[in-house]
Amino acid sequence: MKKTFIAANWKSNMTNLEVKSWLGGFNVQDLKFIDKKIVICPPFTLLPALNSLIAKNKLPIYLGSQNISPLDEGAYTGEINGKQIKEFAEFVIVGHSERRKNFFESEEMVNLKISQAFKYGLMPIICVSDLEQVKTLQERVRGKFQFNVAYEPLFAIGSGIADTPENANRMAKKIKDILGGIPVLYGGSVTSNNINAFTKMSDINGVLVGKASLDPLEFLQIIKNA
Ligand code: 13P
Repeated sequence: MKKTFIAANWKSNMTNLEVKSWLGGFNVQDLKFIDKKIVICPPFTLLPALNSLIAKNKLPIYLGSQNISPLDEGAYTGEINGKQIKEFAEFVIVGHSERRKNFFESEEMVNLKISQAFKYGLMPIICVSDLEQVKTLQERVRGKFQFNVAYEPLFAIGSGIADTPENANRMAKKIKDILGGIPVLYGGSVTSNNINAFTKMSDINGVLVGKASLDPLEFLQIIKNA
């Protein structure tokens, strides 16, 4: 059986100083015995320090970025490209609804970002909020198997009102049917109280957690309860 996948999306939160207190918020050694795949997606500025801390403490945690340049290295002021991300991380969140909404990311832009992730061997966690977006993805990922999809319904993100596990599972099944059996995560108001209802569903392989992952004790509880 595959390990349950728990990804934390810290969004635009946390400084290097705050990371130290986050890690001090629980016994990191506790994580060593947990048989789940944990991925933390912090802001870019925290990737180097977290990468060193994880290596130093031999923690079974993977890192991901929350974004990637749609273009390769070169004269693109302000962008962070796949080659640079790959120095510190193995995953990348692509197409999050907050980027589509606040930064006007089009399907074309999402497409370019997915291509860059593949080019540099980063595993994309592609966020979708409806089946239209899944169908658009179909062409883009044809013949590719190394990616995950996170189903994140808009109403559930940051609202405190999660989707029902049954509906999330139905969507996960449809996504697998369309895209070919890839792992599907659920995201949107996941907490330690509701996580197990999602992870025990047959077609849900894990979760993408936002706000609740910022509290170290709550995050540890999420991992334990998953
Ligand atoms: P919340 O867990 O804060 O609802 O955020 C979900 C999300 O957007 C994860 O990518």
